[in-house]
Amino acid sequence: MSKKLKVGVIGCNPGLRAHLPFALLPADRAEIVAVADHDPEMIEKSKEAYPEIQKNAVYYDNASDLIKDPNVEAVFIMVRDHYHKEMAVAALEAGKAVYLEKPMAITLEECDQILETAFRTKSKLFVGHNMRYMQFVLKMKEIIDSGLIGDIQSVWVRHFVNYGSCYFHHWCAEQKNCTGLLLQKGAHDIDIIHWLTGSYTKRVAAMGRLSVYNEAPDKLKPGEKPDRRAAFRPDCWPPKEVKGLNPAMDVEDHNMLMMQLANGIQATYMHCMYAPDSERNYTFIGTKGRIENIGDMDYENGVEIHVWTQRGSRRKPDIIYNLKAEAGGHGGSDVKIVPAFVDFVLDGKKPEVSPIDARNAVAAGYFGHKSMRNGSMPFEIPEVPAEWKEYFDHGQLS
Ligand SMILES: NC(=O)c1ccc[n+]([C@@H]2O[C@H](COP(=O)([O-])OP(=O)(O)OC[C@H]3O[C@@H](n4cnc5c(N)ncnc54)[C@H](O)[C@@H]3O)[C@@H](O)[C@H]2O)c1
Repeated sequence: MSKKLKVGVIGCNPGLRAHLPFALLPADRAEIVAVADHDPEMIEKSKEAYPEIQKNAVYYDNASDLIKDPNVEAVFIMVRDHYHKEMAVAALEAGKAVYLEKPMAITLEECDQILETAFRTKSKLFVGHNMRYMQFVLKMKEIIDSGLIGDIQSVWVRHFVNYGSCYFHHWCAEQKNCTGLLLQKGAHDIDIIHWLTGSYTKRVAAMGRLSVYNEAPDKLKPGEKPDRRAAFRPDCWPPKEVKGLNPAMDVEDHNMLMMQLANGIQATYMHCMYAPDSERNYTFIGTKGRIENIGDMDYENGVEIHVWTQRGSRRKPDIIYNLKAEAGGHGGSDVKIVPAFVDFVLDGKKPEVSPIDARNAVAAGYFGHKSMRNGSMPFEIPEVPAEWKEYFDHGQLS
Protein backbone atom coordinates (compact mmCIF):
# COMPACT_ATOMS: atom_id res chain seq x y z
CA MET A 1 0.00 0.00 0.00
CA SER A 2 1.32 3.45 -0.92
CA LYS A 3 1.74 6.11 1.77
CA LYS A 4 -0.93 8.06 -0.07
CA LEU A 5 -3.86 5.76 -0.80
CA LYS A 6 -4.63 5.43 -4.53
CA VAL A 7 -8.40 5.50 -4.87
CA GLY A 8 -10.77 4.53 -7.68
CA VAL A 9 -14.37 5.74 -7.55
CA ILE A 10 -17.29 3.91 -9.21
CA GLY A 11 -20.21 6.29 -9.78
CA CYS A 12 -19.37 9.98 -10.15
CA ASN A 13 -22.52 12.12 -10.46
CA PRO A 14 -21.36 15.19 -8.48
CA GLY A 15 -24.94 15.96 -7.40
CA LEU A 16 -25.46 12.58 -5.70
CA ARG A 17 -23.90 10.52 -2.94
CA ALA A 18 -21.06 9.79 -5.37
CA HIS A 19 -19.56 13.23 -4.62
CA LEU A 20 -18.35 12.02 -1.20
CA PRO A 21 -14.81 10.82 -2.04
CA PHE A 22 -14.26 13.72 -4.45
CA ALA A 23 -15.14 16.30 -1.81
CA LEU A 24 -14.02 14.66 1.42
CA LEU A 25 -10.93 12.49 0.95
CA PRO A 26 -8.06 14.03 2.97
CA ALA A 27 -5.71 15.35 0.26
CA ASP A 28 -2.55 14.53 2.23
CA ARG A 29 -3.60 10.88 2.75
CA ALA A 30 -5.36 9.81 -0.44
CA GLU A 31 -5.71 10.69 -4.11
CA ILE A 32 -8.25 9.72 -6.75
CA VAL A 33 -6.42 7.99 -9.59
CA ALA A 34 -9.39 6.45 -11.44
CA VAL A 35 -13.08 7.17 -11.94
CA ALA A 36 -15.77 5.01 -13.59
CA ASP A 37 -19.32 5.77 -14.62
CA HIS A 38 -21.49 4.16 -17.28
CA ASP A 39 -23.09 7.51 -18.09
CA PRO A 40 -20.77 9.76 -20.18
CA GLU A 41 -22.75 12.83 -19.08
CA MET A 42 -21.82 12.11 -15.45
CA ILE A 43 -18.14 11.79 -16.35
CA GLU A 44 -18.28 15.19 -18.02
CA LYS A 45 -20.10 16.71 -15.03
CA SER A 46 -17.56 15.22 -12.65
CA LYS A 47 -14.63 16.60 -14.68
CA GLU A 48 -16.25 20.04 -14.61
CA ALA A 49 -16.94 19.88 -10.87
CA TYR A 50 -13.48 18.54 -9.94
CA PRO A 51 -11.01 19.78 -12.60
CA GLU A 52 -7.99 19.15 -10.37
CA ILE A 53 -8.85 15.42 -10.18
CA GLN A 54 -9.08 15.26 -13.95
CA LYS A 55 -5.36 16.13 -14.18
CA ASN A 56 -4.23 12.85 -12.55
CA ALA A 57 -7.10 10.39 -12.95
CA VAL A 58 -8.02 7.84 -15.62
CA TYR A 59 -11.72 7.75 -16.58
CA TYR A 60 -13.48 4.48 -17.44
CA ASP A 61 -16.95 3.87 -18.87
CA ASN A 62 -17.44 0.74 -16.76
CA ALA A 63 -16.68 -0.57 -13.29
CA SER A 64 -14.78 -3.73 -14.33
CA ASP A 65 -11.96 -1.83 -16.03
CA LEU A 66 -11.46 0.36 -12.97
CA ILE A 67 -11.40 -2.70 -10.71
CA LYS A 68 -8.74 -4.28 -12.96
CA ASP A 69 -6.57 -1.13 -12.91
CA PRO A 70 -3.36 -2.16 -11.05
CA ASN A 71 -2.78 1.42 -9.92
CA VAL A 72 -5.99 1.42 -7.86
CA GLU A 73 -5.56 0.29 -4.23
CA ALA A 74 -8.98 1.15 -2.84
CA VAL A 75 -12.39 1.39 -4.49
CA PHE A 76 -15.38 3.51 -3.49
CA ILE A 77 -18.60 1.83 -4.69
CA MET A 78 -21.10 4.68 -4.92
CA VAL A 79 -23.75 3.21 -7.22
CA ARG A 80 -27.25 1.87 -6.69
CA ASP A 81 -27.73 -1.05 -4.34
CA HIS A 82 -28.34 -3.93 -6.75
CA TYR A 83 -24.80 -3.55 -8.14
CA HIS A 84 -23.14 -3.65 -4.72
CA LYS A 85 -22.61 -7.40 -4.50
CA GLU A 86 -21.19 -7.85 -7.98
CA MET A 87 -18.81 -4.87 -7.72
CA ALA A 88 -17.75 -5.48 -4.11
CA VAL A 89 -16.96 -9.15 -4.74
CA ALA A 90 -14.94 -8.29 -7.88
CA ALA A 91 -12.99 -5.53 -6.11
CA LEU A 92 -12.24 -7.68 -3.04
CA GLU A 93 -11.15 -10.58 -5.29
CA ALA A 94 -8.80 -8.15 -7.06
CA GLY A 95 -7.19 -7.33 -3.69
CA LYS A 96 -8.60 -3.81 -3.40
CA ALA A 97 -9.81 -2.27 -0.15
CA VAL A 98 -13.51 -1.40 -0.53
CA TYR A 99 -15.70 1.45 0.70
CA LEU A 100 -19.20 0.17 -0.01
CA GLU A 101 -22.16 2.51 0.34
CA LYS A 102 -24.93 1.31 2.59
CA PRO A 103 -26.99 -0.86 2.41
CA MET A 104 -24.38 -3.56 2.00
CA ALA A 105 -26.53 -5.38 -0.57
CA ILE A 106 -30.18 -6.14 -1.29
CA THR A 107 -30.47 -9.70 0.08
CA LEU A 108 -28.95 -11.66 2.94
CA GLU A 109 -27.39 -14.12 0.47
CA GLU A 110 -25.60 -11.26 -1.31
CA CYS A 111 -24.28 -9.87 1.97
CA ASP A 112 -22.92 -13.27 2.91
CA GLN A 113 -21.20 -13.62 -0.47
CA ILE A 114 -19.47 -10.28 0.13
CA LEU A 115 -18.47 -11.32 3.67
CA GLU A 116 -17.18 -14.68 2.49
CA THR A 117 -15.04 -12.97 -0.16
CA ALA A 118 -13.63 -10.42 2.28
CA PHE A 119 -12.91 -13.14 4.86
CA ARG A 120 -11.17 -15.40 2.33
CA THR A 121 -9.18 -12.76 0.45
CA LYS A 122 -8.43 -10.58 3.51
CA SER A 123 -9.10 -7.52 1.35
CA LYS A 124 -10.42 -4.78 3.64
CA LEU A 125 -14.13 -4.01 3.63
CA PHE A 126 -15.84 -0.90 5.06
CA VAL A 127 -19.57 -0.19 4.76
CA GLY A 128 -20.75 3.45 4.68
CA HIS A 129 -23.10 3.56 7.67
CA ASN A 130 -22.66 7.29 8.23
CA MET A 131 -25.29 7.48 11.00
CA ARG A 132 -22.69 5.93 13.31
CA TYR A 133 -20.88 9.27 13.08
CA MET A 134 -23.91 11.51 13.80
CA GLN A 135 -23.58 13.45 17.02
CA PHE A 136 -27.12 12.84 18.29
CA VAL A 137 -26.58 9.09 17.92
CA LEU A 138 -23.21 9.29 19.67
CA LYS A 139 -24.74 11.32 22.52
CA MET A 140 -27.59 8.85 22.95
CA LYS A 141 -25.10 5.99 23.00
CA GLU A 142 -22.99 7.77 25.62
CA ILE A 143 -26.04 8.33 27.85
CA ILE A 144 -27.27 4.75 27.48
CA ASP A 145 -23.76 3.34 28.11
CA SER A 146 -23.48 5.46 31.29
CA GLY A 147 -26.33 3.41 32.78
CA LEU A 148 -28.47 6.51 33.47
CA ILE A 149 -31.67 4.87 32.20
CA GLY A 150 -30.84 1.37 33.44
CA ASP A 151 -31.00 -1.71 31.25
CA ILE A 152 -32.71 -1.11 27.90
CA GLN A 153 -35.82 -3.23 27.46
CA SER A 154 -37.69 -1.57 24.57
CA VAL A 155 -36.92 0.61 21.58
CA TRP A 156 -39.33 2.54 19.35
CA VAL A 157 -38.15 4.36 16.26
CA ARG A 158 -40.48 6.53 14.19
CA HIS A 159 -39.08 7.91 10.97
CA PHE A 160 -41.11 10.66 9.31
CA VAL A 161 -39.79 11.41 5.81
CA ASN A 162 -41.00 14.56 4.04
CA TYR A 163 -38.65 13.97 1.10
CA GLY A 164 -39.90 10.40 0.75
CA SER A 165 -41.10 10.87 -2.82
CA CYS A 166 -37.42 10.92 -3.85
CA TYR A 167 -37.41 7.13 -3.47
CA PHE A 168 -40.33 6.91 -5.88
CA HIS A 169 -38.74 9.14 -8.54
CA HIS A 170 -36.02 6.64 -9.39
CA TRP A 171 -34.57 3.12 -9.06
CA CYS A 172 -35.58 2.69 -5.39
CA ALA A 173 -39.24 2.45 -6.44
CA GLU A 174 -38.71 -1.14 -7.59
CA GLN A 175 -38.13 -4.25 -5.48
CA LYS A 176 -35.75 -5.68 -8.05
CA ASN A 177 -33.33 -2.80 -7.39
CA CYS A 178 -33.45 -2.54 -3.60
CA THR A 179 -35.83 -5.20 -2.17
CA GLY A 180 -37.74 -2.44 -0.34
CA LEU A 181 -37.32 0.69 1.74
CA LEU A 182 -37.34 -1.10 5.08
CA LEU A 183 -33.97 -2.40 3.92
CA GLN A 184 -32.84 0.48 1.68
CA LYS A 185 -33.60 3.31 4.12
CA GLY A 186 -34.23 1.35 7.32
CA ALA A 187 -30.77 -0.29 7.30
CA HIS A 188 -29.44 2.94 8.86
CA ASP A 189 -31.87 2.88 11.77
CA ILE A 190 -31.83 -0.87 12.31
CA ASP A 191 -28.05 -0.64 12.59
CA ILE A 192 -28.34 2.13 15.19
CA ILE A 193 -30.88 0.08 17.17
CA HIS A 194 -28.41 -2.82 17.14
CA TRP A 195 -25.47 -0.59 18.12
CA LEU A 196 -27.16 1.20 20.99
CA THR A 197 -28.65 -1.99 22.43
CA GLY A 198 -25.50 -4.06 21.90
CA SER A 199 -27.38 -6.83 20.14
CA TYR A 200 -28.63 -8.02 16.77
CA THR A 201 -32.15 -8.83 15.61
CA LYS A 202 -33.01 -12.51 15.93
CA ARG A 203 -36.65 -12.55 14.82
CA VAL A 204 -38.85 -10.19 12.80
CA ALA A 205 -42.43 -9.70 11.69
CA ALA A 206 -43.67 -6.79 9.61
CA MET A 207 -46.50 -5.08 7.78
CA GLY A 208 -46.29 -2.54 4.99
CA ARG A 209 -48.23 -1.19 2.07
CA LEU A 210 -48.00 1.10 -0.93
CA SER A 211 -51.02 3.38 -0.86
CA VAL A 212 -50.01 6.95 -1.77
CA TYR A 213 -47.32 7.34 -4.44
CA ASN A 214 -48.90 4.68 -6.64
CA GLU A 215 -51.86 7.05 -6.94
CA ALA A 216 -49.85 10.03 -8.23
CA PRO A 217 -51.11 10.22 -11.82
CA ASP A 218 -48.39 12.13 -13.68
CA LYS A 219 -45.55 9.56 -13.96
CA LEU A 220 -42.31 9.78 -16.03
CA LYS A 221 -42.72 9.09 -19.73
CA PRO A 222 -40.42 6.56 -21.44
CA GLY A 223 -36.97 8.11 -22.00
CA GLU A 224 -37.46 10.94 -19.46
CA LYS A 225 -34.83 11.24 -16.68
CA PRO A 226 -36.07 11.66 -13.10
CA ASP A 227 -35.67 15.01 -11.34
CA ARG A 228 -33.66 13.72 -8.36
CA ARG A 229 -33.91 16.97 -6.38
CA ALA A 230 -37.68 17.47 -6.75
CA ALA A 231 -38.52 15.78 -3.45
CA PHE A 232 -36.43 18.31 -1.53
CA ARG A 233 -38.40 21.33 -2.79
CA PRO A 234 -41.27 22.68 -0.64
CA ASP A 235 -43.72 22.65 -3.57
CA CYS A 236 -43.37 18.87 -3.87
CA TRP A 237 -46.69 18.44 -2.10
CA PRO A 238 -49.25 16.91 -1.58
CA PRO A 239 -47.83 13.42 -2.12
CA LYS A 240 -50.64 12.19 -4.35
CA GLU A 241 -49.98 15.08 -6.75
CA VAL A 242 -46.20 14.73 -7.01
CA LYS A 243 -45.16 14.70 -10.67
CA GLY A 244 -42.54 12.70 -12.53
CA LEU A 245 -42.46 9.52 -10.40
CA ASN A 246 -41.10 6.23 -11.69
CA PRO A 247 -43.79 4.49 -13.75
CA ALA A 248 -42.94 1.07 -12.26
CA MET A 249 -43.43 1.00 -8.50
CA ASP A 250 -43.81 -1.94 -6.13
CA VAL A 251 -42.04 -0.97 -2.89
CA GLU A 252 -44.13 0.00 0.14
CA ASP A 253 -44.40 3.69 1.16
CA HIS A 254 -45.32 2.88 4.78
CA ASN A 255 -43.48 0.14 6.72
CA MET A 256 -43.78 -1.25 10.25
CA LEU A 257 -41.18 -3.71 11.56
CA MET A 258 -41.18 -5.58 14.87
CA MET A 259 -37.89 -7.04 16.08
CA GLN A 260 -36.82 -9.36 18.86
CA LEU A 261 -33.13 -9.00 19.59
CA ALA A 262 -30.81 -11.78 20.68
CA ASN A 263 -30.49 -10.23 24.17
CA GLY A 264 -34.28 -10.19 24.64
CA ILE A 265 -34.84 -6.48 23.89
CA GLN A 266 -37.91 -5.74 21.75
CA ALA A 267 -37.83 -2.99 19.13
CA THR A 268 -40.12 -1.45 16.55
CA TYR A 269 -39.14 0.60 13.53
CA MET A 270 -41.71 2.48 11.46
CA HIS A 271 -41.25 4.81 8.55
CA CYS A 272 -43.66 6.85 6.47
CA MET A 273 -42.49 8.20 3.14
CA TYR A 274 -45.30 10.75 2.68
CA ALA A 275 -45.14 12.70 5.98
CA PRO A 276 -45.19 16.54 5.83
CA ASP A 277 -42.19 16.83 8.19
CA SER A 278 -38.99 14.86 8.73
CA GLU A 279 -37.36 13.34 11.77
CA ARG A 280 -35.78 10.13 12.90
CA ASN A 281 -37.27 9.93 16.37
CA TYR A 282 -35.70 7.31 18.63
CA THR A 283 -36.77 6.35 22.10
CA PHE A 284 -35.03 3.81 24.31
CA ILE A 285 -36.81 2.71 27.48
CA GLY A 286 -34.75 1.15 30.23
CA THR A 287 -35.35 -0.11 33.76
CA LYS A 288 -34.54 3.33 35.22
CA GLY A 289 -35.74 5.79 32.60
CA ARG A 290 -36.31 6.81 29.02
CA ILE A 291 -34.37 8.77 26.42
CA GLU A 292 -35.65 10.47 23.24
CA ASN A 293 -34.17 12.77 20.61
CA ILE A 294 -36.04 15.85 19.37
CA GLY A 295 -34.58 16.68 15.96
CA ASP A 296 -31.96 14.55 14.29
CA MET A 297 -29.51 16.19 11.90
CA ASP A 298 -31.23 19.58 11.82
CA TYR A 299 -28.63 22.03 10.53
CA GLU A 300 -30.18 25.23 11.91
CA ASN A 301 -31.71 24.36 15.24
CA GLY A 302 -29.53 21.59 16.59
CA VAL A 303 -30.88 18.58 18.47
CA GLU A 304 -32.28 18.07 21.97
CA ILE A 305 -31.90 14.82 23.84
CA HIS A 306 -34.56 14.45 26.52
CA VAL A 307 -34.05 12.09 29.43
CA TRP A 308 -36.59 11.02 32.03
CA THR A 309 -35.16 9.39 35.16
CA GLN A 310 -38.19 9.87 37.46
CA ARG A 311 -41.89 9.25 37.03
CA GLY A 312 -43.61 12.35 35.74
CA SER A 313 -44.86 14.27 32.72
CA ARG A 314 -43.76 13.67 29.13
CA ARG A 315 -43.49 17.45 28.81
CA LYS A 316 -41.02 17.72 31.70
CA PRO A 317 -37.93 15.65 31.07
CA ASP A 318 -35.50 15.50 34.00
CA ILE A 319 -32.51 16.37 31.82
CA ILE A 320 -32.26 18.09 28.43
CA TYR A 321 -29.01 17.95 26.46
CA ASN A 322 -28.70 20.62 23.75
CA LEU A 323 -26.51 19.69 20.80
CA LYS A 324 -25.46 22.42 18.38
CA ALA A 325 -25.91 21.81 14.67
CA GLU A 326 -22.83 20.30 13.03
CA ALA A 327 -21.69 21.40 9.59
CA GLY A 328 -21.23 18.87 6.77
CA GLY A 329 -23.60 16.46 5.01
CA HIS A 330 -25.92 14.25 7.06
CA GLY A 331 -25.46 16.08 10.35
CA GLY A 332 -21.68 16.25 10.07
CA SER A 333 -21.30 12.49 9.62
CA ASP A 334 -20.09 12.50 6.01
CA VAL A 335 -16.99 14.56 6.80
CA LYS A 336 -16.01 11.98 9.42
CA ILE A 337 -16.76 8.73 7.62
CA VAL A 338 -14.55 9.27 4.55
CA PRO A 339 -11.34 9.92 6.55
CA ALA A 340 -12.32 6.98 8.80
CA PHE A 341 -12.07 4.70 5.75
CA VAL A 342 -8.59 6.03 4.96
CA ASP A 343 -7.49 5.53 8.58
CA PHE A 344 -8.81 1.96 8.42
CA VAL A 345 -6.95 1.08 5.23
CA LEU A 346 -3.67 2.90 5.88
CA ASP A 347 -3.37 2.58 9.67
CA GLY A 348 -5.60 -0.40 10.48
CA LYS A 349 -7.80 1.79 12.72
CA LYS A 350 -10.92 -0.21 13.47
CA PRO A 351 -14.03 1.44 12.03
CA GLU A 352 -17.15 2.19 14.12
CA VAL A 353 -19.19 -0.20 12.00
CA SER A 354 -18.19 -3.72 11.05
CA PRO A 355 -19.36 -5.54 7.92
CA ILE A 356 -21.20 -7.97 10.22
CA ASP A 357 -23.17 -5.02 11.63
CA ALA A 358 -23.98 -3.94 8.08
CA ARG A 359 -25.07 -7.48 7.15
CA ASN A 360 -27.31 -7.79 10.19
CA ALA A 361 -29.00 -4.46 9.44
CA VAL A 362 -29.78 -5.70 5.92
CA ALA A 363 -30.96 -9.03 7.36
CA ALA A 364 -33.66 -7.44 9.55
CA GLY A 365 -34.92 -5.29 6.66
CA TYR A 366 -34.75 -8.14 4.18
CA PHE A 367 -36.71 -10.58 6.33
CA GLY A 368 -39.07 -7.75 7.33
CA HIS A 369 -40.00 -7.37 3.67
CA LYS A 370 -40.36 -11.13 3.31
CA SER A 371 -42.66 -11.12 6.32
CA MET A 372 -44.92 -8.28 5.11
CA ARG A 373 -45.20 -9.92 1.69
CA ASN A 374 -46.12 -13.27 3.27
CA GLY A 375 -48.99 -12.46 5.62
CA SER A 376 -46.70 -11.02 8.34
CA MET A 377 -45.18 -14.44 8.95
CA PRO A 378 -42.28 -14.20 11.46
CA PHE A 379 -38.75 -14.99 10.23
CA GLU A 380 -35.64 -16.02 12.18
CA ILE A 381 -32.35 -14.43 11.11
CA PRO A 382 -29.47 -16.87 10.62
CA GLU A 383 -26.15 -16.02 12.27
CA VAL A 384 -22.82 -15.81 10.46
CA PRO A 385 -20.12 -18.46 11.04
CA ALA A 386 -18.18 -17.80 14.27
CA GLU A 387 -14.86 -17.45 12.40
CA TRP A 388 -16.26 -14.59 10.28
CA LYS A 389 -17.58 -12.86 13.36
CA GLU A 390 -14.26 -13.07 15.13
CA TYR A 391 -12.33 -11.79 12.11
CA PHE A 392 -14.60 -8.82 11.46
CA ASP A 393 -15.15 -7.99 15.15
CA HIS A 394 -11.38 -7.67 15.52
CA GLY A 395 -11.08 -5.10 12.74
CA GLN A 396 -10.11 -7.52 9.93
CA LEU A 397 -6.59 -8.05 11.20
CA SER A 398 -5.11 -10.81 9.05
N1 LIG B 1 -25.32 6.85 3.34
C1 LIG B 1 -26.28 7.67 2.95
O1 LIG B 1 -26.72 8.53 3.70
C2 LIG B 1 -26.79 7.56 1.55
C3 LIG B 1 -27.59 8.57 1.01
C4 LIG B 1 -28.01 8.42 -0.31
C5 LIG B 1 -27.65 7.31 -1.05
N2 LIG B 1 -26.91 6.33 -0.48
C6 LIG B 1 -26.48 5.15 -1.25
O2 LIG B 1 -25.56 5.62 -2.23
C7 LIG B 1 -25.56 4.74 -3.37
C8 LIG B 1 -25.73 5.53 -4.63
O3 LIG B 1 -27.07 5.96 -4.76
P1 LIG B 1 -27.52 6.81 -6.04
O4 LIG B 1 -28.99 6.95 -5.98
O5 LIG B 1 -26.67 8.03 -6.12
O6 LIG B 1 -27.09 5.77 -7.21
P2 LIG B 1 -27.14 5.87 -8.82
O7 LIG B 1 -26.72 4.54 -9.28
O8 LIG B 1 -28.45 6.39 -9.25
O9 LIG B 1 -26.07 6.98 -9.22
C9 LIG B 1 -24.74 7.10 -8.77
C10 LIG B 1 -23.78 7.22 -9.95
O10 LIG B 1 -23.41 5.92 -10.36
C11 LIG B 1 -23.50 5.80 -11.79
N3 LIG B 1 -23.81 4.38 -12.06
C12 LIG B 1 -24.96 3.73 -11.78
N4 LIG B 1 -24.86 2.43 -12.13
C13 LIG B 1 -23.60 2.26 -12.62
C14 LIG B 1 -22.90 1.12 -13.14
N5 LIG B 1 -23.45 -0.08 -13.22
N6 LIG B 1 -21.62 1.30 -13.55
C15 LIG B 1 -21.03 2.53 -13.48
N7 LIG B 1 -21.66 3.63 -13.02
C16 LIG B 1 -22.93 3.51 -12.58
C17 LIG B 1 -24.59 6.79 -12.15
O11 LIG B 1 -24.47 7.20 -13.52
C18 LIG B 1 -24.33 7.92 -11.18
O12 LIG B 1 -23.37 8.82 -11.66
C19 LIG B 1 -26.69 3.73 -3.12
O13 LIG B 1 -26.14 2.55 -2.59
C20 LIG B 1 -27.54 4.42 -2.05
O14 LIG B 1 -28.26 3.50 -1.28
C21 LIG B 1 -26.45 6.45 0.79
